[in-house]
Amino acid sequence: MIVVFLGPPGAGKGTQATGQAERLNLRYIATGDELRAAIAAATPLGKKAARFVESGQLVPDDLIIELVGELLAQSAGRFRGVLFDGFPRTIAQAQALDDLLAERDTAIDIVLYFDASPEVIVARLSGRRVCRACGATYHLDHLPPRRNGICDRCGGELYQREDDKPATVRERLRVYEAQTAELLDYYRRRNLLVRVDAEESIEAVRAAVEAVLDGLGASNG
Ligand code: AP5
Repeated sequence: MIVVFLGPPGAGKGTQATGQAERLNLRYIATGDELRAAIAAATPLGKKAARFVESGQLVPDDLIIELVGELLAQSAGRFRGVLFDGFPRTIAQAQALDDLLAERDTAIDIVLYFDASPEVIVARLSGRRVCRACGATYHLDHLPPRRNGICDRCGGELYQREDDKPATVRERLRVYEAQTAELLDYYRRRNLLVRVDAEESIEAVRAAVEAVLDGLGASNG
């Protein structure tokens, strides 16, 4: 099963993706997480990507496509499929993904579009806190940790992502509209796009996502 989570920054893709990937035994590929890890480790990719991520711009397609190709090569045969979160983000990336999957005799089964308004997104990103150690995501109002500033799961320190500061959030939203939103039509034309109302509660979104993915599993036999 090949699943893509698409939608504006902060719509709640990551919050839903990790649980669904685990539940369905899908390899979870989140290009944003991979880039932040590469930047923290100062790898060659991280050094090239840092200025783009920190300013809210997209990292160039060739770097991202190479990264995803390497990640797919590492996953061969070990999972029932893949859940992509935050990739693809441009038409060039979408076409490259089609090619990478075709080389493996597979194709995208579904693209879930997390639909949320800019007002909701700004509120979600300004309250988001992330664990430095394990990457778990919290929200100061909607999903607060039990102890202020401390991860429930591993005890790590919670921090605010540099690109969640208001000016960079506005830039990420602009970049999404300019470069990523056209993917909605790209996948709608191929009958792959299913919209999820991402403004509902975390639990309601989870139920909607599971209903779609479980229906797909059933129809795939
Ligand atoms: P990336 O890490 O992919 O960021 P993003 O797409 O901007 O998405 P986010 O992680 O910010 O949001 P999300 O939808 O996962 O929301 P979350 O679940 O955390 O990319 C970062 C950067 O890397 C990009 O700007 C770019 O530079 C680069 N990059 C990455 N991929 C690239 C690519 N393919 N090509 C080029 N460049 C690339 O939720 C947000 C908050 O809301 C959390 O606090 C959460 O607790 C809360 N929340 C979630 N759901 C709900 C709900 N239903 N109700 C209330 N609160 C909720």
